[in-house]
Amino acid sequence: MSLPILALGPIARDRNGVIGRDGALPWRLKTDLIRFKEITLFKPVIMGRKTWDSLPKKPLPGRLNIVLSRDGTFEPEQALVCESFNDALNIAREHAADDGAEEVCVIGGASLFAEAMPRAKRLYITEVLAEVDGDVILEPFDESGWREVSREQHPAGQDDQYPFIFRVLER
Ligand SMILES: NC(=O)c1ccc[n+]([C@@H]2O[C@H](COP(=O)([O-])OP(=O)(O)OC[C@H]3O[C@@H](n4cnc5c(N)ncnc54)[C@H](OP(=O)(O)O)[C@@H]3O)[C@@H](O)[C@H]2O)c1
Repeated sequence: MSLPILALGPIARDRNGVIGRDGALPWRLKTDLIRFKEITLFKPVIMGRKTWDSLPKKPLPGRLNIVLSRDGTFEPEQALVCESFNDALNIAREHAADDGAEEVCVIGGASLFAEAMPRAKRLYITEVLAEVDGDVILEPFDESGWREVSREQHPAGQDDQYPFIFRVLER
């Protein structure tokens, strides 16, 4: 089997790149959370310490949770801590290869996304069709060189506060 690929996301951003507010998600989108689980289940997930803090239930079950932190005293339960993105990626790839998983997922937040972007081959992004208040912004990225391989539009509804589009990009 070939080396597990690096995927970014799933991550959801609004029209201005907002992904977070007050240490949490700035919307209620149940369909997006269900998709997040479908995509990441049984794969290693790499996240920043603040994203870990934001999880209502820790760790994400059925997935190796790898948390990046520079705080040597940080010892989360049932998660691996790494002090560099390279270490996290190497460990994640080893686990994915052992488990037969085809990819490892970097699930945020904003700084990790920027760090992982140059090495990513797939991008799972949810475009939230709204403009919300927030304090964490995903920097825009250049989509040239990426190919959209899937696009699914969903309306707002009882469980989803705003309409949104599920996109998958590859290169
Ligand atoms: N919309 C979405 O799909 C989505 C996805 C993920 C997160 N979020 C939201 O985004 C917010 C959290 O994201 P964030 O961008 O503020 O923070 P974050 O990236 O999750 O965490 C930042 C922290 O990660 C650690 N870190 C980052 N890069 C590192 C590196 N190269 N080496 C070692 N440690 C590193 C540092 O932890 P220490 O301070 O411990 O050293 C840093 O303070 C929350 O509101 C969350 O709900 C939204």
